[in-house]
Amino acid sequence: MTITRIIPADADGIAQAAAAILRGDPVAVPTETVYGLAGDATSGAAVAAIYAAKGRPSFNPLIVHVSDMAMAETVAVFSAEARELAAHFWPGPLTLVLPLTRGAPVASLVTAGLPTVAVRMPSHPVMQALIAAAGRPLAAPSANASGSISATRADHVAASLAGRISLILDSGPTKIGLESTIVALEDDRLRLLRPGPVTVEMLAAVAGLPVDTAKDGTIEAPGQLASHYAPGKPVRLNAVAAGDDEYLLGFGDIAGDISLSASGNLEEAAARLFDLLHIADASAAAAIAVAPIPEQALGIAINDRLQRAAAPRYPRQKAHPL
Ligand code: TXA
Ligand code: MG
Repeated sequence: MTITRIIPADADGIAQAAAAILRGDPVAVPTETVYGLAGDATSGAAVAAIYAAKGRPSFNPLIVHVSDMAMAETVAVFSAEARELAAHFWPGPLTLVLPLTRGAPVASLVTAGLPTVAVRMPSHPVMQALIAAAGRPLAAPSANASGSISATRADHVAASLAGRISLILDSGPTKIGLESTIVALEDDRLRLLRPGPVTVEMLAAVAGLPVDTAKDGTIEAPGQLASHYAPGKPVRLNAVAAGDDEYLLGFGDIAGDISLSASGNLEEAAARLFDLLHIADASAAAAIAVAPIPEQALGIAINDRLQRAAAPRYPRQKAHPL
């Protein structure tokens, strides 16, 4: 069992984290969306250590995080539209699924053998500094055990991964609170693989291409298992009042036991979502209920995460054997 240290994300902390990453040891690090579990994307062993710490099924590929366009282009082939999207939304909460370059410096375990790669340039100064200090792209899934709630604070990471990782860089709660939007670029269209902070309207306005948002329950991004982000308790959605032994997350006029946003602000609700799911999960109540969230703008991404939290559970996957 590994001893897990939580240290401030200052210059010394970032240097320690970069050294750990270069040794092949994954480190939890804040980004503007959620905390990530970052490892050297160029090393198969380092990536295997990420999968092992999360207990993530090996078919689920990871996002490759880069610090600048030069690094991005060593990894992925950018079409004119991809370049346009990157110029507009990077650094920031958008992940582009693009063709892998020939000889990309990315372990095949990162892409799970796919001919495409998911790339993102994060805006958080700590993650940016860490990529620069490591001098290489970093693979980073969300820093939580596979299938459980994403972490927006260092103590969420510790609750989920203590004993399984050696270092957590703490820089307080993350700003956005929801994972990045994932979009695949195809010849004449964009395909939304995971709704997120960059909305379909924002994408369409910049790319000048239609955006497909297939919502037929098929798993688009390989990691989009229906029951992702699951708390330990049953979750009931669109609740206007708490039922027996339920802890109610309110929104707008529905106050609940605690509110995602009393003023009905979707950005505030997104930033608080995972934190409040953690609180509800730790409460004395047997079940969790959530007030209705409008299916518009950031509400689409919030409802996506809530539907996964409420979906029937698959049996817990065993840790990846590598
Ligand atoms: O905000 C975020 O994106 C956070 C922070 C840490 O950057 N990261 C994150 O990573 O949410 P993760 O591993 O939890 O989600 C990655 C998603 C998975 O659903 C995976 O299936 C999808 O990206 N993905 C990765 N590579 C892909 C590819 N080549 N094609 C389609 N989907 C891909
Ligand atoms: Mg995740």
